[in-house]
Amino acid sequence: MKVLAVGGGGREHAIVEALVRSGANVYACMKNSNPGIRRAAVDCLLADETGVAKVVEYATGKGVSLAVIGPEAPLEKGLADSLEAAGIPTASPSRAAAMIETSKVFARELMLKHGIAGRAKFIVARDVNEAELALDELGEDIVVKPEGLTGGKGVKVFGEHLRSREEAIAYSGEILERRIGGSASLVIEEKLVGEEFTLQAFCDGKRLAPMPAVQDHKRAFEGDQGPNTGGMGSYSQAGGLLPFLSQSEYDSAVDIMRRTVEALGSEGAEYKGALYGQFMLTREGPKVVEFNARFGDPEAMNTLSIFDDDFVSICEGMAGGSLSSGNVSFAPEATVCKYIVPEGYGVKPLSGQEIQIDERAVSNEGALLYYANVNEEGGRVYTTTSRAAGVVGVSEEIEEAESVAERAIRHITGRIAIRHDIGTREMLESRVRHMQEIRGASG
Ligand code: AMP
Ligand code: GLY
Repeated sequence: MKVLAVGGGGREHAIVEALVRSGANVYACMKNSNPGIRRAAVDCLLADETGVAKVVEYATGKGVSLAVIGPEAPLEKGLADSLEAAGIPTASPSRAAAMIETSKVFARELMLKHGIAGRAKFIVARDVNEAELALDELGEDIVVKPEGLTGGKGVKVFGEHLRSREEAIAYSGEILERRIGGSASLVIEEKLVGEEFTLQAFCDGKRLAPMPAVQDHKRAFEGDQGPNTGGMGSYSQAGGLLPFLSQSEYDSAVDIMRRTVEALGSEGAEYKGALYGQFMLTREGPKVVEFNARFGDPEAMNTLSIFDDDFVSICEGMAGGSLSSGNVSFAPEATVCKYIVPEGYGVKPLSGQEIQIDERAVSNEGALLYYANVNEEGGRVYTTTSRAAGVVGVSEEIEEAESVAERAIRHITGRIAIRHDIGTREMLESRVRHMQEIRGASG
């Protein structure tokens, strides 16, 4: 089967590999020349992924009969709607359903309207006066978020990025004035305290089949220091839970996602595709930090590396409304993904630098390699301002998977940065300890 895959990052390389493993001929559309995708695909269109008309023309010209869209930006432009209108079943959400990610106001109001559990208190502000009133109401323990997409970089958390009420008001003013995230509106919401985790699920409009939980690491530097990024790496545990996450907490998160998909359906915005729930495990259970209308990046590399089913059939099921829930299987293994990023990533990334990747040595260490936002030119690989490559170790235990990833990373050189602490015993213990403190805290 001919399948269109849109996007040129690590997530999309993992998607393309999963498609190829289940027998697809992949036609890729991406803005950068990702060497992993290039090699796995039958053909590539190097183009802006948000140029809807051009992508649809390419897909129809090649006669593809299924499409999967990786990043959020083309979803916001209605690429799934246009592909479907051109007769191509698409395993990604329509523009209307993708509002669960593209508008934080929509997402929060949907949960409130439908009485879905796991809500943070929130207030929408469209001018500075409303922002001030929201702060009066919610107090200082808040988070300020632009309504629209900011690539994970627009959120400011009190106590971390904001030090006082004045700073919160000043940032609100800046969002409104500069239309950060594309509109003059923002959400001020309760600051959730706990451990974050990601739950991704395959959805077909009505049914939902969850994947193993994953924990991403958003901060740029080791020890969770530095600015927020798209994610520096992530781990998952064999069996689908996490060292600090119980089965009943996992089930509560699945239930929140299921109710959200039902709510979208009842609003006439049927949700098809991978749905990403970012949760904070608080002492009252999982609460929603945000939803994304796609696989996570890096989280897709964790789950798709142990995906043990027919990915093309799952995508057909999502696109066609015929997913049978609960029967998607994953190998009972742990995964650790470490991202190789350009030096300065998160602050001032060094793009256009050559990096050397000894693919054979990485593979000999038993690790999987996913190329991300790099460019291959004349057999050489160059960084952009975004993440460069993901290395995934797979093993029964998280710590062993971590060692595999670490050994493999030594075969990648250049002006790069890596968070070596992801998936280490020390890091895992500190997560478990933190959660014990939260659960034990009174008040
Ligand atoms: P987002 O773009 O919504 O994923 O936010 C980026 C990061 O900000 C999240 O991964 C959290 O670490 C943090 N964050 C967002 N919303 C909240 C919240 N309500 N409480 C605490 N932290 C939050
Ligand atoms: N890892 C965060 C995201 O995909 O949005």
